[in-house]
Amino acid sequence: MDREDTRRLERLAGPEGTALLERLAGADRSGAAALRLGTALRREHDAELVADAMALAELRDRAVAKFTRAREMWFTRDGLEQASSEVIARHRAARYAGRTRLTDLCCGIGGDLLALAPGHDVTAVDLDPVHLWMAARNAAVHGGRVRTVRADVRDADLSGVDGVFVDPARRTAGGRMRTGDSEPPLGWCLELAGRAGAVGIKAAPGIGHDTVPGDWEIEFLALGRDLKEAVAWSPALATARTRATVLDAGGTAQELAGTPDPDGGDTGIPLTAPGRWLLDPNPAVTRAGLVSELARRTGTTRIDPHIAFLTGDEEPPPTPFARVLRVLDSRPWDQKRLPRLLRELDVGAVDVRRRGLAGDVDALARKLRGRGSRRATVVMTRVDDRPWGLVCTDP
Ligand SMILES: C[S@@+](CC[C@H](N)C(=O)[O-])C[C@H]1O[C@@H](n2cnc3c(N)ncnc32)[C@H](O)[C@@H]1O
Repeated sequence: MDREDTRRLERLAGPEGTALLERLAGADRSGAAALRLGTALRREHDAELVADAMALAELRDRAVAKFTRAREMWFTRDGLEQASSEVIARHRAARYAGRTRLTDLCCGIGGDLLALAPGHDVTAVDLDPVHLWMAARNAAVHGGRVRTVRADVRDADLSGVDGVFVDPARRTAGGRMRTGDSEPPLGWCLELAGRAGAVGIKAAPGIGHDTVPGDWEIEFLALGRDLKEAVAWSPALATARTRATVLDAGGTAQELAGTPDPDGGDTGIPLTAPGRWLLDPNPAVTRAGLVSELARRTGTTRIDPHIAFLTGDEEPPPTPFARVLRVLDSRPWDQKRLPRLLRELDVGAVDVRRRGLAGDVDALARKLRGRGSRRATVVMTRVDDRPWGLVCTDP
């Protein structure tokens, strides 16, 4: 961190900055109010300190979506955008239970560090001195004490370490890197297992299954139905080939683990025409390749070897791994006939769900909106390689 960065951060963390941040936390900072507030504060404080405090206050507001104690934490814009959310970080940190000396490589502002640090002896490594300064404070806010090392992770000393977590950068100052690229690259991260044994690598949710050796696990993590990220676990931490984990806002995890479906091959699950119920699997399940595993668990069948919808005539048991829909109508896709069909079914507002067919879902939803009293989901998909349409409601 150059001297200038240190001076500004230390001033913001000092008594005058702290008082200013407290004042800002409780103030109306929307639109014109922010301008008035800025002008008033600049009469009492140095303009640079006011600007830094206002920028941090705004980032803390945004960070509330990721961290329970965001109002006490430190962020850069980039650091916050790349940070893991607390619920996910805590879920992931639980894999390191029983290990003592951990290293968090590419710690950023400490989104993962804050969950890894309590109860462990942790070293945090990053090239960016501002992020390191923030990471140590953010870990302390959550009760952890860490050692920070400013270095290229390639030079980090891993002797005596019994667990490593690495979250390589997937963007540069200029923007996002190409899909699959990271700094350091995935290949380098995978080799860490030869030095530290227990390794977790955070990755984009689009990670290819074949980019990770067969004895590693890939876990796909969703917050509700929102697929967030993937983690590759080295054999020392792996317990399945793939896993779909669905977390709720309180951090409770539901996990489905198994062996991914062979691409388009026989999965042992029968193919049947859509019945009275449709299951729309959570994206973590589809990315993990566990649609057939979900079919086995719920006693449902597949509608097509390449499409991730499941079906059955009996109401399936409630599951955190799929949205369950009641089928009102099922037939080959016929967009011209749909408005009349929806009228007959007393449908008003429409959501459109598309799998295996092209189309602008928002435009179609607007076009199909009727005057009826029921809300429906129109599903555009394929059955036996034919374009197919279903009209469904919540159970
Ligand atoms: C994706 S962010 C980490 C986010 C962090 N896990 C969190 O939850 O807050 C990646 C970090 O890697 C750091 N970085 C990138 N390349 C590095 C390298 N070769 N050595 C050390 N740090 C590096 C960047 O400075 C950045 O802070």
